[in-house]
Amino acid sequence: MNYNKKTVKDIDVAGKKVLLRCDFNVPQDKTTGAITDDKRIRAALPTIQYLLDQNAAVIACSHLGKPVATFDSYVKKQAEKGKDPASITEEEWKKSLAKLSLAPVAKRLSELLGREVIMASDVVGPDAQAKAAALQPGQVLLLENTRFEKGETKNDPALAKAMADMAEVYVSDAFGAVHRAHASTAGVAAYLPAVSGFLIQKELEIIGGALANPKRPLVAILGGSKVSSKIGVINNLLEIADTIIIGGGMTYTFLKAQGGSVGKSLLEEDWLDYCNDMMKKAKEKGVKLLLPEDTICAKEFSADAEPILVDSMNIPDDCMGMDIGPKAIAAYADAVKDAGTVIWNGPMGVFEFPAFAKGTQAVAEALSNSNAITIIGGGDSAAAVQQLGYADKMTHISTGGGASLEFMEGKELPGVACLLDK
Ligand code: 3PG
Repeated sequence: MNYNKKTVKDIDVAGKKVLLRCDFNVPQDKTTGAITDDKRIRAALPTIQYLLDQNAAVIACSHLGKPVATFDSYVKKQAEKGKDPASITEEEWKKSLAKLSLAPVAKRLSELLGREVIMASDVVGPDAQAKAAALQPGQVLLLENTRFEKGETKNDPALAKAMADMAEVYVSDAFGAVHRAHASTAGVAAYLPAVSGFLIQKELEIIGGALANPKRPLVAILGGSKVSSKIGVINNLLEIADTIIIGGGMTYTFLKAQGGSVGKSLLEEDWLDYCNDMMKKAKEKGVKLLLPEDTICAKEFSADAEPILVDSMNIPDDCMGMDIGPKAIAAYADAVKDAGTVIWNGPMGVFEFPAFAKGTQAVAEALSNSNAITIIGGGDSAAAVQQLGYADKMTHISTGGGASLEFMEGKELPGVACLLDK
């Protein structure tokens, strides 16, 4: 895939209406609806500010959550969850949509920009049309949640065209959603000159650069709970990396494949052969593959459980692996010390429990002390680095969860492929 895409600086936006796709899929408090982390809104500010400085009229749009766009599908979904279809009302469906309105985002965006953000009550309906038509250069309009339209996730050309008709230029800065071929992330680009904003540009340059032409040695640290969810990344990085470090829950499937005893640890029996093949392949390719020599385990999955240090190949029957041990920490820190580039995806253990966060913390510390280009991808590793206080020590923390994972898998990203090449 070509990552060298035209950006907002390569196109004339002065005085024009610009449809700007953002990823405002922000976490919200379940009871109050308050935005609990506005990072994604802040991440869009440089592009919005640039467009406003160019005197463009900005029509911003985004999805939020996974609303069910029609009453019929809502009834079907609720029935699948065991609810009596006859008891489901339209009122209840509308309430579920109201919870996913972008109105709180408009409010926060307005506070951050220090100017009014006009909110439309629909996506391409009469309110959006009227407000977009009246929008003046230097003003910002936010359309309602794009997934309130049933055509959004189906990449319906009619919806894409209706969105495009409101503007003269399309700018995408929704890196977190570029793996989705939806009407507002990809389809719309068929009807307007389409370029990237600064956030997508940065993600493409840093992650794309590390994958295509890394400063070596390239060390990939892969953690997280399941081998099955990391297959694509492992396969792709095996072709590119010099060293692959394994941690987190998926370690135990590798250890078992090696003949180890893993007790009650997470295990994916179906993936044992794959792990063996992968280790063989790494050897053939001269890629160093590191598994933890020791493990911190516990008798139960709980924050108060007593941490027990064991040899990784001999986890007792009544224990489960919760973190990497001190020998593994030393070996992993040593591997990143002289790295040119480190890509980290997935925590080393149950970092949410302080007693089992040491491995993840030590890896974050090692990265913060190295001179390597350090790239943190994926929701969980980004959360870990933030929670443990190392965020500002990394070269780049990706704003994409699924998107950065698919990027590292080497897959084509529809929301990037649709943008104009340089
Ligand atoms: C994300 O949160 O990863 C992006 O906003 C994409 O959201 P989705 O998984 O609901 O498409």
